This record gives sequence, C-alpha cells and structure tokens, in this order.
Amino acid sequence: MRIVLIGPPGAGKGTQARVLAGRLSVPAISSGDLFRAETSRGSALGELIKRHTEAGELVPDELTTTIVTRRLHEPDAGGGFLLDGFPRTVRQAELLAQALEEDKTVLDAVIALDLPDDEIVQRLTGRRMCQACGMAVHTVFSPPRVPGRCDGCAGALVRRADDTEETVLRRLAVYAEQTVPLLRWYADRELLLPVDAKGAVPEVSDRMRAALAAVTR
Ligand code: AP5
Repeated sequence: MRIVLIGPPGAGKGTQARVLAGRLSVPAISSGDLFRAETSRGSALGELIKRHTEAGELVPDELTTTIVTRRLHEPDAGGGFLLDGFPRTVRQAELLAQALEEDKTVLDAVIALDLPDDEIVQRLTGRRMCQACGMAVHTVFSPPRVPGRCDGCAGALVRRADDTEETVLRRLAVYAEQTVPLLRWYADRELLLPVDAKGAVPEVSDRMRAALAAVTR
C-alpha cells in the first residue's frame, strides 16, 4: 500500500507511522527524519535545511520533494510505503503525484490526524527523542524506565531543537497556513481519511486501522 500520513506537529504521526508501517510491512518514510539525517552530516545542504527547521518554517518544496522522491526509489519502497509528514503543501502533493505517475502508480489513501492545539503543545514540550534509534517518548505520557535513556536501545534521550513552545506555536501557524489547504486538495480526490488523534496510542492506531479497512475492503 502507498499511504500518506498528514497531521499537525505533535499529532503523533511518527508514533503511529511506526505501528502502521510495521503492520503493513512497508517502510515509514519521514521527511523530518530525512532532514535530521542530512543536518547531522553537517553538509552545506544540512545547514540550509537546519535554518528552516529550527525556525519552524517549511523547507522549500522542490528541495523537499527531491529528497523524498529519491528515498522512494530505494528498493525497500518498491512494494509500498508510508509517508510521514510529506507532502505538506499543495505544490508538494502535485510534485508527488507527478513522480508516482512516472512510476505508473498511485496513492491508496491519505490519513489526516487531528488534535487540538493545547494537547499538541503538551505533547511536544514533553517529547524526548532517542539519539540512537529515533524513538519518541514523553516525559509524562510514556516516561522511560531509566530517566534519560531509551527503553528500546538505551540511547540518550534529547529534546528536539524545534520543540520549544515558541517554535511549536510557529509550526502550528505554518500548518494552518500551508498544510490545511492540502486536506481539501486530497478530499477532492477522494483520498482523505480524517482520524481523531486524541486518546492513547493504541486507540488512535485502532481508528486508523478501521479507517483504512473501510476503503481497502
Ligand atoms: P517533522 O519531524 O515531520 O515534525 P512535525 O511535522 O512537526 O511532527 P513531529 O515529528 O513534531 O510530531 P509527530 O506528529 O511525528 O508526533 P510524535 O509521534 O513524535 O518535521 C520537522 C521539520 O522539518 C518541520 O517543522 C519542517 O521545518 C521540516 N519539514 C518536514 N517535512 C517537511 C515537508 N514535507 N515540507 C517542508 N518542510 C518539512 O508525538 C509527539 C509526542 O507525543 C511524543 O512525545 C510522543 O511520545 C507523544 N505521543 C504520541 N502519540 C500520543 C498519544 N496518543 N497520547 C499521548 N502522547 C502521545
């Protein structure tokens, strides 16, 4: 299956992408993770990306699409993929549709998570990421067994540079301005599956599974 997962920052895209991609046996491909990998290499491209991400702004559409479509052409994505956080503008969606058309394929569904802003701020200001495996935990909702260490691989847990309250508010404004119009774009193409992201992780996973089952039956 070829699925896109959209949602405001902190709605749980990364958390749910891991669950769903595992269930569907497809790679979860996160544009944010691709950018963080490039930034950690310290390349000139990474520096350019960092200027946008740390300010809570979007990375330019053409650059983003080039990086993501290159990843889509790796062998593990040949049988399907779950895109987390891409596309997030109508322009990116058009470029993705073009790339898929060239590959003679299409998207099966677009899941859109929704969560109120106050819960987003709570989730993101308490988020810690494992530096080694990228797993996200939360200081209150899913605290690690050993403080500061990942339960899965014992890697160090750190706060993302763009998880300060000020930058989170900017990311929310950017989402409202540049990504919300994309929801209508996908709804018009009968691909959109809105899913409520409130509640515990398994509850949200169940809602996503039910939404997908309804269209893939
Ligand atoms: P990206 O890394 O994609 O950030 P984001 O979209 O802001 O989303 P997040 O990763 O912050 O949150 P999430 O929804 O994955 O939530 P998570 O599962 O971690 O992008 C970073 C930046 O890169 C962007 O700001 C932009 O600059 C750039 N970028 C990326 N893609 C781009 C694109 N396509 N175009 C242009 N620029 C782009 O969960 C959050 C927290 O909540 C965690 O602590 C988690 O443990 C907890 N949690 C999750 N689910 C639950 C639950 N059900 N209950 C309680 N807690 C929960």
